[in-house]
Amino acid sequence: MFGVCYYPEHWPEAMWADDARRMAELGLEVVRLAEFAWSRIEPERDRFEFDWLDRAIDVLAAEGLKVVLCTPTATPPKWLIDEHPDILPRDPESGLTRGFGSRRHYDFSSPVYLAESERIVTNMAARYGQHPAVVGWQTDNELCCHDTTLSGSASARTGFQRWCRDTYGTIDALNHAWGNVFWSMEYRQFEDIELPLYAVTECSPAHQLAFRRYASDAVIQFHQRQVDIIREHAPRRFVTHNFIPPVDTGVDNAALAAPLDFPSYDNYPLGRSDLRFKHWPAERFGDIMRTGHPDFSAYTFDQIRGLQRTGFWVMEQQPGPVNWADANPKPLPGMVRLWTWEAIAHGADVVSYFRWRQAPFAQEQMHAGLRRPDDSPSETWPEIEATIREILDLGVMNEAQRHADVAMIADAHGYWLSDIEKQHASLTFDDVQFDVYRALRALGINIDIVSPQADLSVYRLVVVPCLPVVDASFVEQAQRVSTHFIFLPRCGSKTDQFNLPGALPPGALQSLLPIKVSSVETLRPDCSEALNIDDQVFASRLWRETLLIDDDVDIVARYGDDEAAAVRKDRFTYIATLSCRDFLEHLFRSSCDELGIETTQPSSALRLRQRGRYHFALNYGSATAELPLKDDDTLIVGHQPLSPHDVAVWRKD
Ligand code: GAL
Repeated sequence: MFGVCYYPEHWPEAMWADDARRMAELGLEVVRLAEFAWSRIEPERDRFEFDWLDRAIDVLAAEGLKVVLCTPTATPPKWLIDEHPDILPRDPESGLTRGFGSRRHYDFSSPVYLAESERIVTNMAARYGQHPAVVGWQTDNELCCHDTTLSGSASARTGFQRWCRDTYGTIDALNHAWGNVFWSMEYRQFEDIELPLYAVTECSPAHQLAFRRYASDAVIQFHQRQVDIIREHAPRRFVTHNFIPPVDTGVDNAALAAPLDFPSYDNYPLGRSDLRFKHWPAERFGDIMRTGHPDFSAYTFDQIRGLQRTGFWVMEQQPGPVNWADANPKPLPGMVRLWTWEAIAHGADVVSYFRWRQAPFAQEQMHAGLRRPDDSPSETWPEIEATIREILDLGVMNEAQRHADVAMIADAHGYWLSDIEKQHASLTFDDVQFDVYRALRALGINIDIVSPQADLSVYRLVVVPCLPVVDASFVEQAQRVSTHFIFLPRCGSKTDQFNLPGALPPGALQSLLPIKVSSVETLRPDCSEALNIDDQVFASRLWRETLLIDDDVDIVARYGDDEAAAVRKDRFTYIATLSCRDFLEHLFRSSCDELGIETTQPSSALRLRQRGRYHFALNYGSATAELPLKDDDTLIVGHQPLSPHDVAVWRKD
């Protein structure tokens, strides 16, 4: 299905019927409503005005459109903030209160806001839970966006103290776990505990990790409560949430997504690429400026699909320039179509464009929609119209998906660790994880991104970019299954309480692979060293561990001619250094060859993906690309060779 995000409260009611008719004519089937409409739904405490929303839903339903209704908790109205200013969060860096006047101005730790959120959600769910046109619900909007997971408020401190008591039981246990004897940081009682913010220099990493865990739990509980209320009032309706790129939430996303029917994602390829790759030199950035990075959307889709291993929705799809990146170019002709196909190739069941019509007022007046503020069709309208027809005609969205042969593990501890203990100023966990992803995707294979608790037995190869805290169940599963594992540096490097493991890293992984990391160094980005593997030389860079290994462990790669840089025993490989993507690609390709996983070598801007019987190729580049077709492949969409920014779909007969 296709859909759109619509804000009837922004437009005269006289326009609604035409809007609904045009949506249906375009081939849209779902319309998302009301995620920011609290001030119109409840203009004053307990004065609910649902009539306008009833009418808006009726107008849409009259055209056969289905409604996804949102809880409006991302935007508490002014009267509520005036009544309870303590709902506002406190910036974890500056210590300043984050005020009213935009959105997400609430603190997940605020008991008052939790109660207010329950109240508005209950009222909405009671009214629309059984409405025949309301097929599902979206909770809040982009939880944690705008860096709102952590707050330095008084309620965060009280909540954290309570969480510490529940987690550690006694203050002695907490002092011991956090290493508080160091620098005289010992506490005498739970009520004394500070947030690990606003100190002179860094706080104990265990203290920081505990705060991340607490904050993650607070978001999860806040969200769970909304889901519970919706489920109570809206039987047989789905509940979803629109995620931002998972690493940006700072929470345990798998736990956050657990109560949902499926997760959704908001896909802004140009905005995201601008923010993330802005440091690239102009010659390089120019290639992706109007296409988006060829791997970034795919990377987030695979993470989102992996949260529950279901299908997913793209709840918001960029249709033209946005307003919020540093620079906001427009997509090249063909790119909105390509992004839409990319989402479907990765398992999306619905793509919903953001937004129906560009608003002439307020913060997003420079953000494109499907229609311009004067209601004329926007530049990308014809492309979107043709794309919807093309995809619906093919029926590919009904295609079931199978798990991939290769998975990557993603776990919140990876990014918590690298944020808390940098050890290298320019190293982020997400860059490491993204490099691994890109090296795998360069092999033309499907990739699943799953949590360490997932059933890994279905995979032939699992790559673990950063799993610092390894629990017993992970080790037990790794021993039991026949899957091959490749671990990168820092796996197993910490205990659950952010200490070094007693037997040295990789801690619990030593029962899979008898090695010890005897020392760790980090290196300037411009100082790399030779990394030899299979008579080829690559680069060891940024992070370099020295290993002690048992005799029965094979050396797979060496620093220079000598010291072990990657080792293997049976199904388990450990890489002790960060490297370049070519090294990873080489290693992953030889593992795939060994395991009988078919790989291809697509041209540099071509990306491949398979969904059920369908194979997809997406050409992000400005040159034509050769499709890796075989004799028995039937090309259904596109041509050989594939034009720039074009899409091909084929099936094996
Ligand atoms: C999303 C958000 C929308 C809108 C959009 C603009 O992140 O959910 O409400 O702000 O960005 O691109």
